[in-house]
Amino acid sequence: MVSLLLRPATAADVDAVARIWGEGWPDGHLGHVPDALVAVRTPDSFAARVRVADSLVAELDGVVVGFTMLAADEVEQVYVDRSARGGGVAGRLLAAAADRVAAAGHESAWLAVVPGNARARRFYEREGWTDEGAFTHAVPVPGGTVDVLCHRLTLALPRPGQRER
Ligand SMILES: CC(C)(COP(=O)(O)OP(=O)(O)OC[C@H]1O[C@@H](n2cnc3c(N)ncnc32)[C@H](O)[C@@H]1OP(=O)(O)O)[C@@H](O)C(=O)NCCC(=O)NCCS
Repeated sequence: MVSLLLRPATAADVDAVARIWGEGWPDGHLGHVPDALVAVRTPDSFAARVRVADSLVAELDGVVVGFTMLAADEVEQVYVDRSARGGGVAGRLLAAAADRVAAAGHESAWLAVVPGNARARRFYEREGWTDEGAFTHAVPVPGGTVDVLCHRLTLALPRPGQRER
């Protein structure tokens, strides 16, 4: 039987997370973001940006197949390995991320998605997130920022006393 485990990331997960991130980033972003951002998202750039303490991983039969990374009330990253997409892993990761934001005391969570990332947008919509419209996201890059047109999506979170799980 296939079993999916969601757990906090450890230092031993950095290589797997960086590989999934590095392979998945072009899938969601190429053709949809400025060339200046593509230029700095080199294959080697992802490992250095993994923040272990802010990450959760999804493990399928002992193999890391996805991760999410948080920054306060922002779900910064949600990535599933190409081999595991379409199988419900992403929904479990996103729910775990929202639970963690709620547990930290926030009343809502937010995330940014580029308009052209159709698969991710459909996924977030199906998971109940609300599109609050477009905004210009100043994405930090070495030496400054790159302006990226994004949509801001939000999810209202239950207060700790109201949580059913
Ligand atoms: C975004 C991501 C985490 C979603 O996980 P997933 O397992 O692919 O999600 P699902 O397959 O459950 O849902 C995707 C939705 O897009 C649809 N879809 C599938 N392939 C698609 C495609 N090529 N283009 C558009 N929609 C597509 C699916 O049918 C589904 O919609 P539905 O529920 O209305 O049928 C995953 O695709 C991924 O890691 N992408 C690359 C990284 C990325 O873009 N991350 C998000 C950054 S904001």
